[in-house]
Amino acid sequence: MEESFIYVIFGASGDLAKRKLIPAIYALYVQNLLPDNFAILGVSRTKYSDDAFRSNMVKALEQFNETNNSDKISEFAERLHYSALQYDDAKAYEMLSKRLSVLEKQHDIQGNTMFYLSTPPELYGVIPQKLAAAGLNKQDKGWKRVIIEKPFGYDLDSALELKDMLLEDWEEEQLYRIDHYLGKETVQNLLVTRFSNGIFEPLWNSRHIHHVEVTSSESLGVEGRGGYYERSGALRDMVQNHLLQVVALTAMEPPATLRPDAIRNEILKVFQSLRPIGKEDVKDAALRGQYVASTIKGLEVPGYREEEGVQKDSTTETFAALKFYIDNWRWGGVPFYIRTGKRLPTRVTEVVIHFKPTPHSLFSGQVDCSTCNQLVLRIQPDEGILMKFGMKIPGAGFEVQNVNMDFHYSDLANQRMPSAYERLIFDSIKGDSTLFARTEEVIEAWKFVMPVLDAWKNDPEIPLHGYPAGTWGPEKADDLIDDPGMTWRYPCKNLASDGTYCEL
Ligand code: BG6
Repeated sequence: MEESFIYVIFGASGDLAKRKLIPAIYALYVQNLLPDNFAILGVSRTKYSDDAFRSNMVKALEQFNETNNSDKISEFAERLHYSALQYDDAKAYEMLSKRLSVLEKQHDIQGNTMFYLSTPPELYGVIPQKLAAAGLNKQDKGWKRVIIEKPFGYDLDSALELKDMLLEDWEEEQLYRIDHYLGKETVQNLLVTRFSNGIFEPLWNSRHIHHVEVTSSESLGVEGRGGYYERSGALRDMVQNHLLQVVALTAMEPPATLRPDAIRNEILKVFQSLRPIGKEDVKDAALRGQYVASTIKGLEVPGYREEEGVQKDSTTETFAALKFYIDNWRWGGVPFYIRTGKRLPTRVTEVVIHFKPTPHSLFSGQVDCSTCNQLVLRIQPDEGILMKFGMKIPGAGFEVQNVNMDFHYSDLANQRMPSAYERLIFDSIKGDSTLFARTEEVIEAWKFVMPVLDAWKNDPEIPLHGYPAGTWGPEKADDLIDDPGMTWRYPCKNLASDGTYCEL
């Protein structure tokens, strides 16, 4: 890459910078994917000298380096600098502007600057506004871009407010909204699987597909993030963003080209085709749960309400499941099911395409669609693809049994899976916004989840189901799939001898 740049990380003393951002930039550096001239400026409220910041980041890299090359850590550290700044102090941004000019001279950089906001979301409006007031949004001497992390707003109103605030001083093309799921190799592979294989696309529609299921389960609880999670809950934390993006890539039409807007236009069309869940339909189309204390493999695990930072009578959901439709020609009448939750038996994210049964059932064993063909696109872990299809059981008669044909990413020997941040940071530097959420997508996704959020907040008749930590969520979630013989796919089974076995 030719273009020199400065990467400014706001919130540089925080966890994300240490664990993900600096290691991702280092990984790009050791692969020679960065230009000769670049610098990183850490910014946060805490006072550090450049040296103290450098030595903290070197320690972080020793711990979180994602490559097997640590030889270049000290030369990489020479690019690291630091400035303390009070986020709401206009003068501080003028100082920042001066510091950037000094660094540009020092590292021979031509004015390109990235501002990465790894800060609490309350600052997403303020920082870009103050940057602009100090003239740091002007692109006369090089590009200026802002990256923000989710959550993009707390609800539809605040998302619209944030949008207006940002667009007052910045062009849409300068704004990069990170949804780290879009940076995952296997999420991108949804596009390649669909649009580079002649066999799938003709079947990818309501004529052949019975329903689509997206699961993202986590075995961890809220892990010290109780304060954040209390205001969020599973629907805001995972569905409004990550899982709806996964649905969009699964359901979208082929884009005309691979250019950012061509892909993002198709994603937006999917969001615009989501059938709104009416207020009165929420109780049948959505289900929420909260984990309660339990014993997992002999260990006592606290319930959500016992977690630090969580109210004793909290009604925040740690499990959410939805049934909905995409009203367009491709998907008319095909139900989509999404579920996500914390403290479930295992960490797994997958998309399952359930195909329709044959028009007529010739063989025994093919009684309902639980034995139909399924295509499992495993996003994590054990990344890969699994196809299930019927085979004859050897012997007399025509007994059918489901068998698996699978591909594992790990079979691609010597291929390191870059982290989502590595990919997204690289794209942001190149100016490729394909894998970042555009304003309208974010707004449409909020519009879709708002009726559910409102009903869960205001309607006391809608139950919050408790589920023991370590189980697959409330049993009632099975009732969302109201087809006879159908349930969610449970990819992991508990084996008495060696713990848990997860198919793929
Ligand atoms: C984050 C959520 O966006 O995604 C977390 O805030 C969640 O609550 C995480 O644990 C899941 O990401 P991944 O990459 O581990 O599936």
